[in-house]
Amino acid sequence: MRTKYCGEIKLKDVNNIITICGWVKKKRLLKNIIFVDIRDITGTIQVVFNKNHNSYFDLALTLRNDFCVQIKGLVTIKKSKKLPKEQKTEKIIEVIAFKLKIFNGTLPIPLDYNKINKEDIRFKFRYLDLRRNKMLRNIKIRSDITTLIRKFFINKNFLEIETPILTKSTPEGASDYLVNSRLHPGKYYALPQSPQLFKQLLMISGIDRYYQIAKCFRDEDLRSDRQPEFTQIDIEIAFKETEFLQNLINKLICKLWLSIKEVQLKKIQKMSYNESLLKYGTDKPDLRNPIQFIELSNLFLNKNYEYLFPWLKTNQINRIIAIKISHGIKLISNKKINVYKKFSEKLKANQFICMKVINMKNYIININQIIDIKINKNILKKIFFSTSVNNGDLLFIIAEKINLANKILSELRLKIGIDFKITDLKKTCPIWIIDFPLFKRDKKNNLKSVHHPFTSPKNNIKDIFSIDPLQIISSAFDLVINGYEIGGGSRRINNKKIQNQIFDLLKIKKRTKKEKFGFFLKALEYGTPPHSGLALGLDRLTMLLTNSNTITDVIAFPKTNSATCLMTGAPC
Ligand code: AMO
Repeated sequence: MRTKYCGEIKLKDVNNIITICGWVKKKRLLKNIIFVDIRDITGTIQVVFNKNHNSYFDLALTLRNDFCVQIKGLVTIKKSKKLPKEQKTEKIIEVIAFKLKIFNGTLPIPLDYNKINKEDIRFKFRYLDLRRNKMLRNIKIRSDITTLIRKFFINKNFLEIETPILTKSTPEGASDYLVNSRLHPGKYYALPQSPQLFKQLLMISGIDRYYQIAKCFRDEDLRSDRQPEFTQIDIEIAFKETEFLQNLINKLICKLWLSIKEVQLKKIQKMSYNESLLKYGTDKPDLRNPIQFIELSNLFLNKNYEYLFPWLKTNQINRIIAIKISHGIKLISNKKINVYKKFSEKLKANQFICMKVINMKNYIININQIIDIKINKNILKKIFFSTSVNNGDLLFIIAEKINLANKILSELRLKIGIDFKITDLKKTCPIWIIDFPLFKRDKKNNLKSVHHPFTSPKNNIKDIFSIDPLQIISSAFDLVINGYEIGGGSRRINNKKIQNQIFDLLKIKKRTKKEKFGFFLKALEYGTPPHSGLALGLDRLTMLLTNSNTITDVIAFPKTNSATCLMTGAPC
């Protein structure tokens, strides 16, 4: 049907007769000549119908954008162009048409390919949205990424193994999607939140090096980097330290950035969870933004909060932190400061302080636009010292309970970084976050795994019940790039007793344990090797590699934020 792709017609094809297939991108009529741009997956080429030499001229007049056509013609150099040094052959080559076949016309296209269209229209007519250059490019890059990943792991002797989709629950912190069983009424399969248990079982089988590009399903609240069904690059290895795994992923990430973005990354550094919270208030720091938190809590150790916050009850605060904006007084208007105040209040800030340092020598400052505010000079001196401010600088200070303070100031840091171009969006800043706690407490004060319950504690613990569970450090590690959690992994528990103890700490009842994990606990008793693994989010990785703002731009058929498919009408 076709002998050439539009984007692959080159100078060497001049004077050859070719057949192309594709869609009309643009049509122009100029006296007796019709110029039609034809587009296919590889690019665009101009086709010319001349009334004087073409019996298909009248048919060509009926062409409209997005008609699907086949054209036979002669490749020539455009008349106006001299024999070129130009790189883009598309600009200097055209096809003089002999024949035209219209495969199909089209209804009016509900999208404008040259504009940003509304999401509901894009999702409803996704097959048309995918015709846009940007989307085609993203889908092609995604395919390049998976090809590179497959080659990478095959070269390193990994086996690609599929694990079941109709299975039992794998706890990863979300709710399960359930599938009704026709043969067993009242019983359900759960779709996997990840292949976690199966890949561990493969290690027990002696597989040694497993990878899979695996579909996962999680019923949870969605946002720009979360979809209910998404894809993981899932990996597990036996008889190797976690260091080996991290080095392997360092190599893979460097390879991806080099081949897709032509960017040479350095070796990925590590940062402890605690350091990340201290400096950035989050375990997903965006290191393209150089602003770090400055701890002020110590200045108020004697509960002298009232010097700075006379209106606050001291028991409402246990972290006081600041970020400094050098020359902030000139940079940030009062109007903008009000925007940040409202932004913080939306995040439930009780106390938002914007301190302008006007004259340090005379202790002249301005707090939230009030000039002659009284603050103990001694405290002020300490604040100046701790923050190393200069005249003209501006401090945003947040004083709250620790989690709230972290949340508010980390969000503010991100917003200010973008608003004032402090964040270098051209950079790629990956970091391994390590030494997470093994457990956290949920709203009901119950223990929950910070990662999943198969994560091993970092160090050998003789009697796990004798220590405060919140103090146990886990062997887990997360890969964070530009503020996004791209992957997570850990060394696994490979011992039934410890696995049981973890379930006990999580207060999983004996019956539930047997029902849900009996098969797995049994398997742990058959000579389980030491093993570790990790999973990278392919959608998030592709989002970064294509400079997209949301993972829906790198998934061919995504769901809306309320987990529906506007095209098919699922769920129904
Ligand atoms: P985790 O739950 O951290 O670990 O998931 C690994 C990575 O998968 C991506 N991800 C998602 N991407 C899009 N939409 C979602 N809803 C979504 N949820 C997660 C993230 C994340 O870092 N079994 C463990 C891994 C292991 O220990 O080997 C797991 O699934 O990029």
